[in-house]
Amino acid sequence: MKKTIKDVNWTGKTAVMRCDFNVPLDGDKITDDTRIIASLPSIEYLIENGAAIVLMSHLGRPKGEAKPEFSLAPVAKRLSECLGKEVKFVACDEVVNDEVRSAAKALKGGEVMLIENVRYRAEEEKNDSAFSKELSELGDIFVQDAFGTSHRAHASTTGIADYIPAVSGFLIEKELKFLGEAVNNPKRPFAAVMGGAKVKDKIPVITNLLDKVDILIIGGGMAYTFFKSQGYSIGNSLLDEEGLELAGDILKLAEEKGVKFMLPVDVVAADEFANDSPHDVYPVDSIPDNRMGLDIGPKTIELFTEALKSAKTIVWNGPMGVFEMDTFAVGTKAIAECLAECDATTVIGGGDSAAAVTKFGLADKMTHISTGGGASLEFLEGIELPGISVIEDK
Ligand code: 3PG
Repeated sequence: MKKTIKDVNWTGKTAVMRCDFNVPLDGDKITDDTRIIASLPSIEYLIENGAAIVLMSHLGRPKGEAKPEFSLAPVAKRLSECLGKEVKFVACDEVVNDEVRSAAKALKGGEVMLIENVRYRAEEEKNDSAFSKELSELGDIFVQDAFGTSHRAHASTTGIADYIPAVSGFLIEKELKFLGEAVNNPKRPFAAVMGGAKVKDKIPVITNLLDKVDILIIGGGMAYTFFKSQGYSIGNSLLDEEGLELAGDILKLAEEKGVKFMLPVDVVAADEFANDSPHDVYPVDSIPDNRMGLDIGPKTIELFTEALKSAKTIVWNGPMGVFEMDTFAVGTKAIAECLAECDATTVIGGGDSAAAVTKFGLADKMTHISTGGGASLEFLEGIELPGISVIEDK
């Protein structure tokens, strides 16, 4: 068990809290504030318990330079609205300077400030010890609540813990509970649904899950690499050349482990990668040479949803088709609806599948939607995340 913010007496103390405020922006408008909302329970707890709070995060990849389009100023504004109190933002290209240090020192219990994007400094991603120390000197206790960035060993996610004690916030606690219980202590049958484009990227996750699941369902762009490895012609569909051999290995491994391994039996294939492209349904052994598969077909939807109805735990990572285009969103939507209706514990591993569930208005019907894309994938791979390892044990 990891120590949490509940294990600290906050009176007279300053929390230096790492959040993942890497939110999508359109100009200075935040288009999805899920990650900000997810940080509120910890911040509110700290306020109520008398801590002064210095928040930090990255936004995008400014590559060690102060670029205004990556400023956290819009996040401070949104946070102030959400908390109903001022979140002081100290604009500072060096992230930490004397003004920032004084502002942090002057904070009273219950007051909150946000410092500028830590990736304005090249030392952040290098996990530089001097920068870690600078950050640590802004407070007394490091609160790690940036689950989405916990797979990065950076100054503000791990290095800082060399200088001050580290505890987790409620978001990390929640992510570890739901992802951890689903993967390591699932109610059975346990099914995983994997999609997305590249087999190679997902191989470590699939390999790890093959030791744990009863049913493994593969859809989305990577299914075509599996078809190819089985000797089918896939027309102009996506092929991950590098993943071809690995796909064959996975099929063998699944058989050895007695996992029910399900691939699509039919697909929707179109002339072009466009929402209005002419398209038809084909069995997977008859995809025409001039067409590309962009969604799973109706028979596959029936098979997959039938299998999922028997499951008691379902982990989903990766869409079934090009859900961003309405014409090819049918398969992904059907899986999302199936998960929304079933009585299993449903865990959505961030990124595209989280975006899909939100697009279909089904987010509140899932047991847990991870705020981590890359981080939740690495968690599902069974890797110990560096940003989690640094949190002290109870
Ligand atoms: C994410 O959005 O996955 C995290 O914020 C990590 O961002 P990064 O991939 O730029 O490190």
